[in-house]
Amino acid sequence: MEEINKIQRLGVFTSGGDAPGMNAAIRAVVRTGIYYQKEVYGIMRGYEGMIEDDIVKLGARSVGNILQRGGTILKTARSTAFRTKEGRVKAFENLKKNGIDGLVGIGGDGTFTGLYHFSNEFGIPTVCLPGTIDNDIAGTDYTIGFDTATNTAVQAIDRIRDTALSHNRLFFIEVMGRNSGYIALNSGIAGGAGAIILPEEKMTFDDLYQLLGAGKETSKKSNLVVVAEGSKLGGANELARKISERSDYFDIKVTILGHQQRGGSPTYFDRVLASKMGVAAVEGLLNNQSNVMVGFRENKIVYNSYDAVINHRHEIEEDALRIAKILSI
Ligand code: F6P
Repeated sequence: MEEINKIQRLGVFTSGGDAPGMNAAIRAVVRTGIYYQKEVYGIMRGYEGMIEDDIVKLGARSVGNILQRGGTILKTARSTAFRTKEGRVKAFENLKKNGIDGLVGIGGDGTFTGLYHFSNEFGIPTVCLPGTIDNDIAGTDYTIGFDTATNTAVQAIDRIRDTALSHNRLFFIEVMGRNSGYIALNSGIAGGAGAIILPEEKMTFDDLYQLLGAGKETSKKSNLVVVAEGSKLGGANELARKISERSDYFDIKVTILGHQQRGGSPTYFDRVLASKMGVAAVEGLLNNQSNVMVGFRENKIVYNSYDAVINHRHEIEEDALRIAKILSI
C-alpha cells in the first residue's frame, strides 16, 4: 500500500451501544496501525474519554486474546457532553495533547454524527466502522454485531419453540433493533415464526389477528410471533394483551429477549467482518480516505461519505419479507 497521508498517531474508540465484534475491530485497527509503524491509542468510553483525557497507548499484545470476546475492552458510552461545542473543543485539545492526528470510531449513527461535526470543526481525518447489532446503517449490507445478535435470537427462539409446542402455547417474542426490523426479520425466518412484526411493515392488528386465525379449526394453537421492539403495532406485551382481549383461543406467553442479544462471543462472520473493516479503516486513513464510513457491500469493502450514511435508512430487503410471508402459512 502506498502511504499518502502523514498520520503518525491513531486514536481508536467505541461509542454508543456495544456490539459483539467490536473487540475484533479494535484489534484489527491496533495491529494494522502498528504494522504500518504508527502509534495507536485507545480512547476509553467513547467521546466521554476524549473529553476527560482517558486515553491509553495500545500495543499489538494489549489486544491479544480479545478477538473472541463480546463487549468492548475500550468500554463505551452515549455522550451528551460531546453534543456541545464546549465538549468537542475539550476533546480536540486532549487529542492534540496526546499527538493523535487520525481517528477511528466504531459505533452507529450517533457516533458518525459526532465525528462528522468534529472533523468539520477541527479538520482531523476520521474513519468510522459500523458497529451495532441493529444493522440499521446505510452504505453497508452488514454491521458488526448483527450476525451474532441474530444468532442469539434464533437460539432463544428455538428453545421457546420446544416449550411452546409442549404446552400448545402462542408466544410473542420481542427482539431488539431500535427502529429497524433486521433482527426480527432474519431471526423470524430462521426460527420459523408464524408471523413477524416489523417497524417497516404496514400490517394492521386485524391482519395479525387473521393471520393467527384465532379460533378457527385449522389454526395452530402453538405458534411463535417475532416482534421487533420498534414495531408500530405495539410491543410483544401489548400485542399479546390485545389478542387475548379479543379471543380466549390461545394460551399466550411473552418473552422479551433484551440485552442478551448484545453480549456473547462474536460469530465467525462478525469476527471476519470486523477484521476486514478494521484493516480497511487504517489503510483508508493512510491513503487519504478521510471522513468516510467503511462498509461491506456485495462482498466488497467500500468507503461511504458521511453524507451518504448519516440520517439515511438501511432499507429492509423486500425479498426477505416476501419469503417470510410464503413460509409462515
Ligand atoms: O442500538 C443497539 C440497541 O441494543 C438497540 O437495539 C436498543 O434499542 C438499544 O440499543 C438499547 O439501548 P440501551 O442499551 O442504552 O438500553
